[in-house]
Amino acid sequence: MTSTPFTDPDTVARLYADAGRTQQRTNALLTAKTSGDNATATIVDLVAHHAPKHPTVCEIGCGRGTVTLALAESLTPPRHTVVDISPAFLATVAKRAADTGFAVETVRGDFHRLPLPDSSFDVLVAAFCLYHSARPADVVARIARCLAPGGRAILATKSIDSYYEIDQLMVDTGLDPLATSRPSLYETFHSANAADIVATGLEVTEVIHRDHTFRFTDFDHLASYAVTVPKYELPQWLVTNPRDLAAELRRRTRDRPFTATSTVTYIAASGQP
Ligand SMILES: C[S@@+](CC[C@H](N)C(=O)[O-])C[C@H]1O[C@@H](n2cnc3c(N)ncnc32)[C@H](O)[C@@H]1O
Repeated sequence: MTSTPFTDPDTVARLYADAGRTQQRTNALLTAKTSGDNATATIVDLVAHHAPKHPTVCEIGCGRGTVTLALAESLTPPRHTVVDISPAFLATVAKRAADTGFAVETVRGDFHRLPLPDSSFDVLVAAFCLYHSARPADVVARIARCLAPGGRAILATKSIDSYYEIDQLMVDTGLDPLATSRPSLYETFHSANAADIVATGLEVTEVIHRDHTFRFTDFDHLASYAVTVPKYELPQWLVTNPRDLAAELRRRTRDRPFTATSTVTYIAASGQP
């Protein structure tokens, strides 16, 4: 069984203990993005395309609720539930939903056990979260159990080589000489193995791959993303403040705009007929 920092329960609890790290990571990536689709919009489009009108929706690993709110606005589900292991994120989603007037039920739970009744939802969404499982096929089996007859699942993940250019920079500068040797954070559920894993419990009906490019303007911009990556083994003093990591990178190599890439993969699947 592969283990990465992303599948270690203590690391996951620390990463999602508050919304700060995720917001910093998302902001750094969004401001760097120069090409690629809007993942939230693509997920909403896939749900709208594959599911019945006004479906009951459950989203697992909902994070800060960006997809949740977009689904609520676009599909007006008669029942809309989110499940996440992080109490802080569930509180964030509850507040964002209340602020925007959407009724979203928040459930704290582990997606390996998915505390939902059998056959209870028309749509299950799992975006960018199954790489936090060392046994994603078990989560797929749970999703299959919770889908109502004719139900659909929409899943999203990233390529195993996502942002490898930054790993290489860590090696080339000597900051983390083993960065390219460790398993990818996306090792357990990524663009190349996700469809096969989903097919162990559901019928895969569509797979879409979209390339994304990120151009960080300089090392300050890059460091604001890199300090959020638990793969790197860097001294604590370097990752507490992105400016320290940027300064150390500059000490070792010329500051410059820096490009990194990732492929985002979307899978639509159906449960029992
Ligand atoms: C990268 S965030 C994805 C957030 C959101 N789906 C999105 O697309 O923006 C991963 C989420 O998975 C959640 N998560 C990780 N392990 C989990 C588990 N075992 N059970 C439920 N949620 C989990 C985390 O708390 C976090 O909210």
